[in-house]
Amino acid sequence: MLAVHLVSFYFSKLQEDPTKKVDRFLHAMRLGDDQLRDISARFLAEMKKGLSSESNAAAAVKMLPTHVRSTPDGSEKGQFLALDLGGSKFKVLQVKVREGMGIRKGGVGMEEKTYPIPKELLNGKGSELFDHVAESLKDFLQERNIDMEKKHPLAFTFSFPCGHTKLDQGFLLNWSKRFRVRGLQDKDVVQALRDAVDRAGGMDVEVLAMVNDTVATMMTCGFDDKHCDVGVIIGTGTNACYMEALRNVDLVEGDEGRMCVNTEWGGFGDDGTLKDFITEFDQNVDAASNNQGKQIFEKMISGMYLGEIVRLVILKMANLGLLFDGHVSDALRTKGKITTADVAAMEEYKTGLKNTKNILVGLDLTPSQDDCIAVQHVSTIVSFRSSNLVAAGLVAILTRIKENRKSRTLTITVGVDGTVYKTHPQYAKRLHKVVRRLLPECQVRFLLSDSGSSKGAALVTAVAQRLATRRKQVDETLCPFRLSQEQLLLVKSRMRAGLEAGLESEGPSAIKMLPSFVYHTPDGTERGKYLALDLGGTNFRAMLVKFRKGLQQSTRLYHKIYTVPPEIMQGTGEELFDHLAECISDFLDYMGIKKARLPAGFTFSFPCEQTALDTGSLVSWTKGYKATDCEGHNVVEMLREAIKRRNDFDLDIEAFVNDTVGTMMSCAYEDPQCGVGLIAGTGSNVCYMEERDAKTQRMCINTEWGGLGDDGSLDDIITPFDVEVNRNSVNPGKQRFEKLTSGMYLGEVVRQVLLDLTRGGLLFRGHVTEALKTPGIFETKYLSQIESDRLALLQVRCILQQLGLDSNCDDSIIVKEVCGVVSRRAAQLCGAGMAAVVDKIRENRGLDHLDITVGVDGALYKLHPHFSQILEETTRLLAPQCDVTFMPSEEGSGKGAALITAVALQKQGM
Ligand code: BG6
Ligand code: BG6
Ligand code: GLC
Ligand code: GLC
Repeated sequence: MLAVHLVSFYFSKLQEDPTKKVDRFLHAMRLGDDQLRDISARFLAEMKKGLSSESNAAAAVKMLPTHVRSTPDGSEKGQFLALDLGGSKFKVLQVKVREGMGIRKGGVGMEEKTYPIPKELLNGKGSELFDHVAESLKDFLQERNIDMEKKHPLAFTFSFPCGHTKLDQGFLLNWSKRFRVRGLQDKDVVQALRDAVDRAGGMDVEVLAMVNDTVATMMTCGFDDKHCDVGVIIGTGTNACYMEALRNVDLVEGDEGRMCVNTEWGGFGDDGTLKDFITEFDQNVDAASNNQGKQIFEKMISGMYLGEIVRLVILKMANLGLLFDGHVSDALRTKGKITTADVAAMEEYKTGLKNTKNILVGLDLTPSQDDCIAVQHVSTIVSFRSSNLVAAGLVAILTRIKENRKSRTLTITVGVDGTVYKTHPQYAKRLHKVVRRLLPECQVRFLLSDSGSSKGAALVTAVAQRLATRRKQVDETLCPFRLSQEQLLLVKSRMRAGLEAGLESEGPSAIKMLPSFVYHTPDGTERGKYLALDLGGTNFRAMLVKFRKGLQQSTRLYHKIYTVPPEIMQGTGEELFDHLAECISDFLDYMGIKKARLPAGFTFSFPCEQTALDTGSLVSWTKGYKATDCEGHNVVEMLREAIKRRNDFDLDIEAFVNDTVGTMMSCAYEDPQCGVGLIAGTGSNVCYMEERDAKTQRMCINTEWGGLGDDGSLDDIITPFDVEVNRNSVNPGKQRFEKLTSGMYLGEVVRQVLLDLTRGGLLFRGHVTEALKTPGIFETKYLSQIESDRLALLQVRCILQQLGLDSNCDDSIIVKEVCGVVSRRAAQLCGAGMAAVVDKIRENRGLDHLDITVGVDGALYKLHPHFSQILEETTRLLAPQCDVTFMPSEEGSGKGAALITAVALQKQGM
C-alpha cells in the first residue's frame, strides 16, 4: 500500500502540480500590485475626463451626475412604494421609514415581492416592459391591500446608465447586461414609467425619484453608517458611485456641497484604455455579447460574464490537450453552460473539488482529479482577477475622495451589493484585503447592503419629498407675484381710468396729471449755452450744455455729480436748498464761469403743481425725501432764495421740469417721434404729449403714475409683502404703484419675502439674521447683479455674503428666484401702464395704429438684466395697435431741461 502511495506521489510530482500549468496559461490574468496601481491610475484619469464638461462627451467612464446631494441624515420619514429593476430580480416593495430611528430599532419596515420578467420582454418594446412593471405594481397593491385611492410616493431603482437633469427625470443612455429593449434609448425613463402607470389605471402613484442601484446601495448603507460615501455593485453588472465635490461636477451648476456621481465604471476600457490587460477570452466574451465593444471593464468583472470566461478558458485548454486528455464535449462548446454560480460552487471551501467534478460531469466530460484541481484553479484566477479589478477601481475612487478632502488619511465606508459579492465564498475577503493593502493609510469599512437598494431609494425619495414640499411652499409664497395676462389687462384699464380721472378732476386724484407748460418737443434749431440742474433720487447733478447751430452733434456737456446725504434729504427745506446752492457754486468754480449769469433749467424729480414753466409748488415728497417746509412751497423760489443767501453767483432759472419731461425732451432731440418720457429708476413715472382741444395746443403732462392705487384700486394685486414695505416707508399709503415698480422698493419687497421664507424654515436654515432684518440692504444694483444670467451660483452666494447673508447653494437659487419674480412683476406692471398711455395717445389722435418712441432713463431700466425686455414684451402684448420704440436717454434729463430753457428763451425772442 505504502509503495503504491509513494509511486503515485512520485508520479504526481513528476507530472507537476496541475495549478502550475493553469498559472502559466492564465499568466495575463494574474495581476500584481504594480499592475493594479497602474489600472487604478488609469481609472483616476478617466474619472477626471468624465467629470470635465470639455471631455465628457468623449469619455468612456461617463461620471453621471445623479442629483442626489446628501446622504441620509436620519430625518427622513414616510411610506413609499419602490420598484427595483435591472438586477437579477425585478421587485416591487413597500418601504416604511419611521423618523429618527436607525434600522436596528426597526426604523425601516419593508415588504417585497419578486416578479419574473418574461424573456421576450428583455428584447421587446419599451412600452411593453413598462406595462409589465406597472401591472406588477398594481398586482402588489391589490395583493397587499394597499389603499388604491390614496396617493403613494414611489422610489424607482433603475440599474442602467441615465443622464439625469433632476431626480425625477433621467434619459437612458444605453442598455447593458441582459436588457436590449427597443424605443427607450435617450428617452426619459421616469416619464415612461408614469405613462405606463397611467395606462394601467386605478393607481395614484407619484414617481418622485429614480436612482441607479449603486446610489441606492450607498444610501441604504448610509442610513446605518454616516461615513458611507461610496456604493458598489458586483452583481449581474458592476458599477460604483461616490460623493463628489459639486464644484468638480462640471455638468451641474453649483459649486457648493456634494453630489453623488454614478461612475458607470463598467464602460472603463471601451476606448481601448485597458487594451494591454485584455485577454483573448475577454475578446471572445465581448464578441459573443449583445453590446460588442461596450462595458469592457464590466465584462471582466461581473456575474453575467465570469462563468463564460471560465468556460472559454477550459475549452481552449481542452482543445490544446491540457485538460480532459484533449476531449471536448458539445456542452462545453455551448455558450452559457458554465454560470457564475458554478464558479462560486467550484471555489467552495470544502466541497469545491467535488462541486467542480459534478459540474464537469454535468457537461458530459470525464475529468481526472488533476483536471478538477486545474479547473477549480481557473475559476479562482478568473474570480480573483475580478475582485482585483474592482479593488483597483475602488482605490482610484477612494484616492479621489481623499484628494478632495485634502487629507492624507481617510476613514470611509463602502456600501456593497450584488450576487457575486454576496454569494461567492472568497470574493469579499479578497477584495477587502487588496484594497487595504493598496491604501494602507485609509481605514476602509465595507458594509453589505443587507436590505437591497430599495431602502436607499426610499430614503432618496423621502428627501425629494421634503424638497418638493419646500418647493410647493416657495411656489405658494411667490404665486401672488406671478400676474396673469388678465390681471395685467386690468392694471392697464385701471391706469387708463386713472389717467382720465386725473385729467378731469379739479381736486386731488390718485394720478395727478400735472401740466408741465412744455408745449413742443425740440425741433433742432435750439442754440446757446445753458446750465442744467438735476435733483433726481440720490444725486444732484450740475451740468453745462451748449447747443450750436442746432446741430445735435455740437451738443457739449460738462457735468459733476454730488450726493445728497440722507440727513439733508430728511432735514429742513432750507438746508436742502442751501446744499444745492453750494453744489452749484462749486460747479461754477470748477468750470470757471462763476461770473457768467447763465440761463438755467432745473430738473426736479418730484411732483409739482405748475402754473408756468418756471414755477412749481411741491405737492408731496416721494422716494425717501422728507425735508420739512417744502410741500406746498414754490421750489424754484426756494432755490433762488438759497442762491441769494450765498450771494456769490447768480442764475436765471427759466424752466422747471420733471425728470420724465427732461428725459422725453432729451430723446426727442434725437428722434422727433418721441412723445413719451419714462423713468424706471429710484422712482417710477411717465410723461407724455397730451392733445388738448382743437383750439389749444398739445402739452406735456407729467402723469405721476406712481400714485396709481393710492385710492385702493390695486388692492387685489398688492401682496402682504408690499403692504409691509408700504407700512415701513416714509410715505405710507402713497405711491402704491411706484412701490411695486421702482428701484427704491424692489429690494425691500425681496427682503420681506426672504424674511417670510426664512421664518417658515424654507431659507437660510430658518435663521433670521440681523442682516436680513436691515432695511435697504438690497439695493437695485444688487438685484441686477444677482439676476444676471452670466453669474454662477457661487457669485450669487458671494454677493449675498457681502450683504451678510450666509447662504448655501439651495438658498442662492431661491434668492435668485425671488429677485426674479419681484423684478418681473415690476417690469410687467410698467408695461401694462405704458400700454395704457400709448393707447390713449393713439385714441387721442384718432389713429388705428400708432408709431411712437418712448425716451427712458433710470437705473432699473438701464442696469437690470431683464427689466427692459419684459417691459417691452408686455407693452407689445397689451397694446397691439401701437409700435413702441424704447430709446434710452443718453445724457440724463438735464440736457432736456436745457433744451426746454432754450425753447422758452427762443419764444421770448432772446
Ligand atoms: C440588489 C439591488 O440588491 O442588487 C438591485 O436591489 C441591484 O437593484 C442588485 O441591481 C445587483 O445585484 P444583482 O446581482 O441582482 O445584479
Ligand atoms: C437721470 C435723471 O438720468 O435719471 C434724473 O437725470 C432721474 O433726474 C434719474 O431722476 C432717474 O434714475 P435713477 O435711477 O437715478 O432714479
Ligand atoms: C450596469 C449598469 C449600471 C449598474 C450596474 C450594476 O453596469 O450599466 O447602471 O449600476 O450594471 O447593476
Ligand atoms: C417719483 C417722483 C416723480 C419722478 C419719479 C422718477 O415718482 O414722484 O416726479 O418722476 O420718481 O424719478
